[in-house]
Amino acid sequence: MKISVVGTGYVGLVSGTCFSETGVDVVCVDVNEEKINLLNSGEIPIYEPGLKDIFTRNVEKNRLSFTTSLKDSLIDTEVIFIAVGTPPDEDGSADLKYVLGVAREIGRNMNKYLVVVTKSTVPVGTSKKVKAAIAEELKTRNVSIPFDVASNPEFLKEGSAVDDFLKPDRIVVGVETAKAEKTLRRLYKPFLMNGHPILFMNILSSEMTKYAANSMLATKISFMNDIANLCELVGADVDMVRKGIGSDARIGNKFIYPGTGYGGSCFPKDVQALVRTADEYGHSLDILKAVESVNYRQKEILIKKIKKHFGENLKGLRFAMWGLAFKPKTDDMREAPSLVIIENLLKEGASVVAYDPVAQEEAHRILGDNISYAKDEYDACLDADALIIVTEWSEFRSPNFRVIEKLMKSNTIFDGRNIYDPEEMRELKFNYYSIGRAA
Ligand code: UGA
Repeated sequence: MKISVVGTGYVGLVSGTCFSETGVDVVCVDVNEEKINLLNSGEIPIYEPGLKDIFTRNVEKNRLSFTTSLKDSLIDTEVIFIAVGTPPDEDGSADLKYVLGVAREIGRNMNKYLVVVTKSTVPVGTSKKVKAAIAEELKTRNVSIPFDVASNPEFLKEGSAVDDFLKPDRIVVGVETAKAEKTLRRLYKPFLMNGHPILFMNILSSEMTKYAANSMLATKISFMNDIANLCELVGADVDMVRKGIGSDARIGNKFIYPGTGYGGSCFPKDVQALVRTADEYGHSLDILKAVESVNYRQKEILIKKIKKHFGENLKGLRFAMWGLAFKPKTDDMREAPSLVIIENLLKEGASVVAYDPVAQEEAHRILGDNISYAKDEYDACLDADALIIVTEWSEFRSPNFRVIEKLMKSNTIFDGRNIYDPEEMRELKFNYYSIGRAA
């Protein structure tokens, strides 16, 4: 079997690489020539644990290749995945110009039956537009070539994308014909060995599933952040409350960790897009609107705590920051809470020295020299008035506090991820502030 994957971002590159691991021939397509050259030279442009090994193995076996020509990729291809970006436009709706552009190009170049699968996260109803765009191009060419459209949303998490792809909890596929279902079942069969299901449904339900899943997860997080803030006010401990409610299987103990607000390229964008879709249908998704505003507020929670400790004037203070990426095991800085915290500190005249194990290059691209970058976590602490923990990289979990204490001007830590035990920090004589627990 041969397939094409258009778009070599996180989703496209991980999907294409993992499909090739099952023995399928995969051609990945991207308009960005620089990226394709990089991939053809054996390099991958993103940091994703485990990806490089599978990538190298399958490139060497000639099962995985890269091109800028969608037309060439179509030769002998049975299935083509659209995995290009859908950035939010000004009002938060997903911008479909890349997805529909690819659909048109497929229509202009296909010569035999194809299953065209949308993998990008797209608003409910997009597959109909993809179908119409392809049909229009075929009509312009005055040819009649059969094709099917399908929707196959991705549930991979950055940082564990390869694992999520190889061992999925479930695969969701929206189809219109038995023929498309049969082809996609064959393609996905190797991934179903762990007993988890492939769920076929109609296309609209499949498109909706993706948004509902991300929105539900974002809701859990905002809910817990709100509860954590209340815990502090009443003197409760959110760690215990989290365990207390998470042990109820109906609630579950995943995705209920409070923090500095959710970030990344998916939750903020998808929550916004679903709210806009509902608005278009005259339906107000009030819960999700609250989820968004709670998250916005949460990104500033550490600033509030910092001001409560140091007073409103932060001028001249030096802050060490551990973690810049929106979460561990990625270099992704999109919508990262660190950006909001840094912006506020700089606005108040403070300075920031940051350390992140992998996101520093990406941070420098965005922030330039507005902050300084340390060579390791201890280096960042030198002469700092306080340490702020924004990303819970595992290497931050058991540092040598005695060394930190010697390096810093004052023993003060603002922990946005609750990675230390407040009791221990008290014994170590640190001013320790975390989320939803007694200071
Ligand atoms: C998310 C979903 O988890 C994936 O299933 C989905 O496929 C993906 O979006 C997507 O739509 O492409 P991702 O954005 O990579 O994946 O990251 P998550 O691990 O879900 O984390 C999102 C944010 O929530 C992070 O900022 C994280 O720190 C925060 N979070 C997560 C919490 O604050 N508390 C938690 O308990 C869990």
